[in-house]
Amino acid sequence: MRFFIDTADLDQIEEARDLGILDGVTTNPSLMAKSGITGAKNIEEHYKKICQLVDGDVSAEVIATDVKGIISEGEYLASLAPNIVVKVPMIKDGIKAISYFSSKGIKTNCTLVFSAGQAIIAAKAGASYISPFVGRVDDINWDGIALIEEIAEIYAIQMFETEILAASIRNARHIVQSAKAGADIATCPLHTIMGLLKHPLTENGLEKFLADYRKGNPA
Ligand code: E4P
Repeated sequence: MRFFIDTADLDQIEEARDLGILDGVTTNPSLMAKSGITGAKNIEEHYKKICQLVDGDVSAEVIATDVKGIISEGEYLASLAPNIVVKVPMIKDGIKAISYFSSKGIKTNCTLVFSAGQAIIAAKAGASYISPFVGRVDDINWDGIALIEEIAEIYAIQMFETEILAASIRNARHIVQSAKAGADIATCPLHTIMGLLKHPLTENGLEKFLADYRKGNPA
């Protein structure tokens, strides 16, 4: 399983990269705004900075919602750095644009995926990644992990090459469940990735080992 960090915060991206486990970055307009990055020019410059920090794929989301607009914005974003992936919403014009990008060899991440049907049509259009939003599905009392499982089963049966990028991951358990359910990638904030490290028995065990060492080796 690969790990992407879901943020526009450069410090967090650097910290995750320095852990040695970072495979890419996802952003969206809300995450840009949360980091105080507003205005097309600033957002563009910010993407360039992110792309310099990481070698892996960096999802840059289009704002346009019509096919012509998505294509021209996406082609421009893709020209900013070789590791940009154009993030396109799951709408009719988005699917048309994904088919176009696919024919031109431009990588795409189809975002706002909430059903297996949407995952099928995005894969048919040639999306490189789809982003099912696990946490937001849970928020409406449906089962986000069951959605990942269903998509993974369909993609395996149909031999679709589109990768499942589990998004809207809210806790470390979601990462574990997404891995088990067949997601290729999980994208999550840094604190969620760090949550994977934690176990009270590890902390207690280490404390005891160090205390016992100190007993036999007084300072
Ligand atoms: C990433 O691609 C998504 O935009 C993001 O994971 C959404 O997460 P949220 O539901 O916590 O906003």
